[in-house]
Amino acid sequence: MHRGELLLVFFVLTVTSASKDCISRPQVHAMEGEPFYLKFCETSSPVYKNETATIRWFKHDAFHQRVELNTESSSRITFNGYDLEFWPVELEDKGTYSSQVRNDNQSWTLTVIQRKEHSCFSEKLVTNKKVEVKKALKVTCENPNYSELINHTSLYKNCKEVINPPMIQKDAEFGDAGYYSCVFSVLHNGKQYNITKTTNITVIQGNSKITPAILGRKFETVEVELGKDVALNCTALLNENDMFYWNFLSNNSDPNVHEDVNKTAWTFEGKLHAYKILRIGNITEKYLSVLYNCTVANEEATDTKSFRLVRKEMVDIPGHVFRRGIFVAVFISVAVVCGVILCVIYKVDLVLFYRRLVERDETLTDGKTYDAFVSYLKECHPKNGEEYTFAVETLPRVLEKQFGYKLCIFERDVVPGGAVVDEIHSLIEKSRRLIIILSQSYLTNQTRLELESGLHEALVERKIKIILIEFTPTNSCTFLPPSLKLLKPYRVLKWKADSPSYNSRFWKNLLYLMPAKAIKPWREESEALPVLSEP
Ligand SMILES: *[C@@H]1O[C@H](CO)[C@@H](O)[C@H](O)[C@H]1NC(C)=O
Ligand SMILES: *[C@@H]1O[C@H](CO)[C@@H](O)[C@H](O)[C@H]1NC(C)=O
Ligand SMILES: *[C@@H]1O[C@H](CO)[C@@H](O)[C@H](O)[C@H]1NC(C)=O
Ligand SMILES: *[C@@H]1O[C@H](CO)[C@@H](O)[C@H](O)[C@H]1NC(C)=O
Ligand SMILES: *[C@@H]1O[C@H](CO)[C@@H](O)[C@H](O)[C@H]1NC(C)=O
Ligand SMILES: *[C@@H]1O[C@H](CO)[C@@H](O)[C@H](O)[C@H]1NC(C)=O
Ligand SMILES: *[C@@H]1O[C@H](CO)[C@@H](O)[C@H](O)[C@H]1NC(C)=O
Ligand SMILES: *[C@@H]1O[C@H](CO)[C@@H](O)[C@H](O)[C@H]1NC(C)=O
Ligand SMILES: *[C@@H]1O[C@H](CO)[C@@H](O)[C@H](O)[C@H]1NC(C)=O
Ligand SMILES: *[C@@H]1O[C@H](CO)[C@@H](O)[C@H](O)[C@H]1NC(C)=O
Ligand SMILES: *[C@@H]1O[C@H](CO)[C@@H](O)[C@H](O)[C@H]1NC(C)=O
Repeated sequence: MHRGELLLVFFVLTVTSASKDCISRPQVHAMEGEPFYLKFCETSSPVYKNETATIRWFKHDAFHQRVELNTESSSRITFNGYDLEFWPVELEDKGTYSSQVRNDNQSWTLTVIQRKEHSCFSEKLVTNKKVEVKKALKVTCENPNYSELINHTSLYKNCKEVINPPMIQKDAEFGDAGYYSCVFSVLHNGKQYNITKTTNITVIQGNSKITPAILGRKFETVEVELGKDVALNCTALLNENDMFYWNFLSNNSDPNVHEDVNKTAWTFEGKLHAYKILRIGNITEKYLSVLYNCTVANEEATDTKSFRLVRKEMVDIPGHVFRRGIFVAVFISVAVVCGVILCVIYKVDLVLFYRRLVERDETLTDGKTYDAFVSYLKECHPKNGEEYTFAVETLPRVLEKQFGYKLCIFERDVVPGGAVVDEIHSLIEKSRRLIIILSQSYLTNQTRLELESGLHEALVERKIKIILIEFTPTNSCTFLPPSLKLLKPYRVLKWKADSPSYNSRFWKNLLYLMPAKAIKPWREESEALPVLSEP
């Protein structure tokens, strides 16, 4: 123990200095800011029991001159019998002290250790203590030197407080190692001082020996690939001085076989847990089917584990190839889904492109004359002028001139006279599509005749397909005859005056609904031309 501490205070008269041990060692250490004492050790007993000897204290100055200490020397220093007490000791108190009683004198060299801000103890003032694992570990905080003055005691392990009580009593485990600090709070003249005593506890392996053993199976085959390396890992539980080695029928000089540096670790049970790695590089046939033995042994017991290298069966799909395959498959699936979505969105364009590409023509063999019969409101009231222009000029200009379709427009193509109903019926029969240009007035008009006839063909006899062009927006459903409501929505096109280009969606959709027909080569220059008729 480097430090002594003084208990005696003036107002505790019943406590005699005898309760403190005298300090005989010449080198003493104290912690800055803590209470501390020096106490003279009597070597010669007084001649008479009633004799009261006087003691004198000196501090040696820089020139090794003794300077007698008295109560005026420092307010922190007090004298009590054979004690010299510091309340508390400070850095400036370091130096050599001596005391003289009768003809005896004694001297000490005091070192004061500077307090560190962030640690609860100083490593220079620890007591080292070793405890065997599984043996009793007892940490208690007692300080007989100051016992009467201690107000409060607390215990810290590695500077973390151990919750009450401030003591530990258990069987030692390796995890118990650490710095245990007892902090005694001492009251002196109404002021509180702390005294810290720290013990460095190390848990060591007990003397009881275990039977060394190799962990795991006693025989192991390891699959290897020729030309590759392998590491054989042998793990054992053993005592500190047991033998642990690899042996195999191969010379030490073989550069492809070597042992790794030893690795060991203590387990919590106090056994040595060690493993040794044998590395075999550049594996060739001669390393296969040989036993590589790993042995742990002491005077009483031996344990061996054998490894054998065998050639690895080639795996069908190596892991990385498999992962790459999965990735590719996922990628392709996503691509396919995207493709399908794009096809659905651009169906019309694709179909038109395909028709052009293969020059498909479905009009050659069905014996019909017209590609489409155009039905619209024939009476040319001024308010229907646009509709008329669309049916008789715009539509034929695009479908006939541009794309080579043949339309049947009753007004234009039928010689006046004859039975209108029969005529219409036979013309519709000769047509592949029935284009109905739908407007509010259409349905209230006589053109219904065509409509009825065409609808009959389409819906009952399924001979003709209807294309509905909504010329003016018709929002009310009641406006449509019930039979038209059966039409599939995609067969209804909406004409917008801003669909003039041949490339606009309206014309593409219309071409898509028209029968496929081989046409004269697409005339590029006309593409951008407006189609809308002059007024
Ligand atoms: C009491 O003082 C003596 C003498 O300095 C010392 O050896 C001992 O360790 C001290 N006890 C405590 C608990 O500090
Ligand atoms: C101490 O006791 C002795 C005899 O036992 C006596 O001679 C001496 O005078 C006493 N000293 C004092 C200081 O009383
Ligand atoms: C101890 O005391 C003797 C005489 O009493 C003196 O000669 C000697 O120098 C002293 N030693 C120290 C270390 O003070
Ligand atoms: C505490 O004990 C351990 C183990 O004996 C030792 O390595 C370490 O240096 C000691 N710490 C101090 C501050 O003495
Ligand atoms: C010291 O202990 C007394 C009673 O034991 C208590 O009243 C007092 O508050 C304590 N002082 C300190 C500073 O802990
Ligand atoms: C003494 O230690 C206690 C904790 O045990 C702490 O609360 C107190 O501030 C310390 N006092 C001094 C003067 O260091
Ligand atoms: C060897 O095996 C032990 C226990 O199975 C393991 O702790 C250790 O990390 C292994 N060493 C290597 C290099 O794989
Ligand atoms: C390895 O151990 C097996 C049985 O455990 C033994 O038959 C063989 O001779 C040993 N080989 C070497 C090289 O020690
Ligand atoms: C070891 O090498 C020496 C010569 O280098 C050879 O005579 C001996 O047979 C070798 N032993 C084995 C086990 O390979
Ligand atoms: C490994 O440990 C064994 C004893 O267990 C010792 O003889 C050998 O020298 C050690 N090897 C190395 C590389 O530390
Ligand atoms: C591996 O072994 C073969 C045959 O023994 C030898 O030709 C080759 O150089 C070796 N490779 C390495 C990297 O040691």
